[in-house]
Formats: sequence, C-alpha cells, structure tokens
Amino acid sequence: SVFLNRRSLSTTKIKMQQLEDDKPKKKVTPYLLYCVSTAVIGSLQFGYNTGVINAPEQKLRLFFQNVSLDRYGEPFSQGANTMVWSFAVAIFSVGGMIGSFSVGTVVNMFGRKKSMLITNILALVGGGLMGLSSLSQSFEMVIIGRFFIGVFCGLCTGLTPMYVGEISPTAVRGAFGTLHQLGVVIGILVAQIFGLEFLLGSDDLWPLLLALTILPAVLQSIMLPFCTESPRYLLIVLNKEEEARKALVRLRGSEDVDDDIQEMKEEGMKMAMEKKVTILELFRSPNYRQPIIIAIILQLSQQLSGINAVFYYSTGIFHTAGVTQPIYATIGAGVVNTVFTVASLFLVERAGRRTLHLIGLAGMAISALVMTISLSLVKTNQSLSYLAIVAVFAFVASFEMGPGPIPWFIVAELFSQGPRPAAMAVSGCSNWTANFLVGLGFPKLEELCGPYVFLIFMVLLILFFVFTYLRVPETKGRTFDDIAQGFSAKPAHSPVPESVVISSPDNKEPPLLSPTEK
Ligand code: GLC
Repeated sequence: SVFLNRRSLSTTKIKMQQLEDDKPKKKVTPYLLYCVSTAVIGSLQFGYNTGVINAPEQKLRLFFQNVSLDRYGEPFSQGANTMVWSFAVAIFSVGGMIGSFSVGTVVNMFGRKKSMLITNILALVGGGLMGLSSLSQSFEMVIIGRFFIGVFCGLCTGLTPMYVGEISPTAVRGAFGTLHQLGVVIGILVAQIFGLEFLLGSDDLWPLLLALTILPAVLQSIMLPFCTESPRYLLIVLNKEEEARKALVRLRGSEDVDDDIQEMKEEGMKMAMEKKVTILELFRSPNYRQPIIIAIILQLSQQLSGINAVFYYSTGIFHTAGVTQPIYATIGAGVVNTVFTVASLFLVERAGRRTLHLIGLAGMAISALVMTISLSLVKTNQSLSYLAIVAVFAFVASFEMGPGPIPWFIVAELFSQGPRPAAMAVSGCSNWTANFLVGLGFPKLEELCGPYVFLIFMVLLILFFVFTYLRVPETKGRTFDDIAQGFSAKPAHSPVPESVVISSPDNKEPPLLSPTEK
C-alpha cells in the first residue's frame, strides 16, 4: 500500500505539472510593457480630445463672435454662434466614424506598427490648425482641426486595442486590454484639469489647450520605432515566421515560444482557407455573424448607456442638481472614473469579462434610477443634490467596471486574425455613431424629458443586460483560436461541445469553455 500511495503521489505530481503547463502563461516582460505603453498613448489621445472641448466652451464662443465682428462688421447671432459651436463639437465624432471605419483598410495596407506611426500625422495637422486658429482669426481652423483630430482618434480606438490584444499573452490579455480604457480615462481627467481657467482654460491659452495633443503624438512617434510589429501580423498575414519568432522571443523574454507559434500557425492555416474577410462577409458567413452582432451590441451598450451624456454635459447636470461648484464635481467624476478603471484592470482576469459587464450594466441602471429620483425632487429638498452627485459617481464607477473597458478589447478577442480588421472597423464605427447621436441628441432629449431623461438610458441598460446574459460568451483565459471555434458553424479540428455553440436555441447558459475543460 506504501507503494500504491507513492505511485498515486507521483501521478498527482505529474497531473499538477500538466495543469501548470496547460495554464496560460503570464510572463510580463519590460519590453512587452514598453510596447503596450507606447500603443496606449493613442488611447490617452482619444480621452484627451474627448474631454478637452468641455471647459473652454465660453472662450470659444467668444472667439467665434470676435472673428465674425472682425470679418463681417457684426457678431454672429445667438443661433449662428450655437450652430458653429455645435458643429465644432459634433464634427469630432464624424471624424471618429470615418477614422474607425478606415482601420481595416489602413492595417491591411501598412501593418499595425506603421499605421500607428502614420496616424500621428493627423494629430500634428489637427493640433496645429486648432493651435493657430486664434492667431489666424479663423474659426474654420478650429472646425477642420477638430475633424482631423476626430479621424485620428477613430483610428486610435481601433489600432491600440488591436495591437495590444495581438501582442499580449492570453492570461493577461484582458488586463492589458483594459489599459486602453485606462489611457482614455486618464486623458479625460488631464483635459478636465488642464481646462481649468487658471491653467490652460483661460482667454489667451485655450488654443494651447487644444494644440497640446501634438506632444503625445511626437512622443509616440519617437517610441514606436523601438516597438516590434505584431508577431501575429508577421506570421499569419505576412508569412514571415523567423521575424515573428524573433518578435515573440523579445516580447516573452524567453526562447521557448513554440506554443505561441504553433497556435498562430493553426489560426493561419484556417485563415488561408478563407483569406481576407470583407465587411459584407462578416454578416454573411455563419461563422462571423454571431460574433459581429455581439461586438456591435456591446459597443452600443457602451455608448447608449448614456456615459457621454455625463462626460459631455456633467457640468450642466450638476448645475441642475443645485451643486454650487459644478466644475469640481465634474473633475470628481473624472477621478472616480480613473479609480474604477484601475479596479476593473485587476478584476478582469479573475471575474471575467461577461460577469463584469453584467455587474456594470446593472449598477448603471440602478444609478440612473437614483439619479432620476434625486433630480426630480431636488427642488423640494435641497439636500438631495448630494444624492445626485453620489448617483452620478456610482453611474460612472459602474461604467468602468465593465461597459467602459470591455467592448473596446473584446472585439479583438471575438475574432481570429482574418476577420479581425473588418470587425474592428464595423464595431468601432458603430461605437462612434452612437457616440455622435448621444452627443447631439442629449440636450434636446433633456429639454423634452427634464429630470426624467436618464430613464431612457435605464431602459436601454436593462435591455443590454438581458442580451449580455443570454448571448455573450466568456473569453477569459481562452486563445483567439479557441474563442473563434466556439462560434464556428463546423469546427475544424476538435469537435466543439453543443453548449459552446451560442446559436443553439435552448442554450440559456453562457457558452463557457475554459482551457482546462478543453
Ligand atoms: C469609453 C468611451 C468614451 C467615453 C469614455 C469615458 O472609452 O468609448 O466614449 O467618453 O469611455 O470614460
């Protein structure tokens, strides 16, 4: 029996070793961190330019008036001024739609790394135009500059998550993906702070505030040449195995990259059978239809949650709630936003994407309800303005638990190398379109619905919750190939259990398939 015990002990040891080997490897090297940090400068840019236009509104309006007075001998009418202003704000998202939609074409032409490098030209042009607008007495330069910056940011929202997703080891892909959102929220916060009147938000300095985006663009252009091209792109798209291997050895800090190479090769082989995937094919092919619908709806859940009603108009909301210094409450929201993104960063590889997205949506729906109650009763009870602040903060905090970071990076996870660029383009463009609609429509909706406006978002949030619960699979800890297999109509190598195919009609349970179960 001693012999038997010994034997079972050593089998257990072997089993444990096997489990250890099967576990996704977590190795995070300084070089990997360098490449990821360089890429998320693009996220910072998106956040900064999202938040920057809020504070200097009055200065810009005054500038438009002065230009008109100078040029036409009379200031713009109130209506004309508002039109120019709204145009300057909205054209950013129009640029974003175009930029995000072009992402597939750009990466297929230049690869990941060069695309990021070239994209920075747009930031230089846009920032330059806005920075010189006051000197040149031209409001058109602000508008055209905002458009260029929008295209630039649209590209960033596709390029950064794609590159980061492709170079990250499976085990930390979610945490690294969340770094994109962390860049965004830090960018927003920096813009809110720099926009304060006594910093760059003054009458003279606002052009500098808008042109500041040039600095990170220059920094990223200096750092990028030292980054590696994505190994997946090198191997699967360009078929350069040696270069891909070299890149992986540097990223992983180990010569033993055979597993990664093997996984990519398998993905590549399957891809070779269907080559480049066009946007139309995403909707036609039964293999891609499910994930593209999920990707689009997740992106819509992010924007139609109403988050940017807060980020674009929070100062007004706090004002309605009777807060005396709304700008500081707005900055408070920026801080809460950042803190909770960090929390999500640590949770996403433990709790999983699906769970966090569900928790976030539910939290936002409840906060929207509390916000509505406090805003509608604040006139009769002044102390409810504190409850309104708490509700807005809780709304933002819940957003960053899931709906903020997850949609941006999960799209890269839901698709394999072939369809990924087209999928990023379609879903990114859906995000920007919804962003545009909320930005444009919210003031009108608020006029119509008054304090009840957030109930609209609450209803949408509940619908997105139900969809996520029924349809979104967990992607934590799974390879790209494995995830794609889960959607595949006819599995290529290993048969996929019935429960994994999410189209299965009576499949109420989410299709969970962890690597150890496989
Ligand atoms: C997400 C959204 C963006 C929003 C930001 C707020 O990145 O895409 O529109 O402003 O989160 O943190």
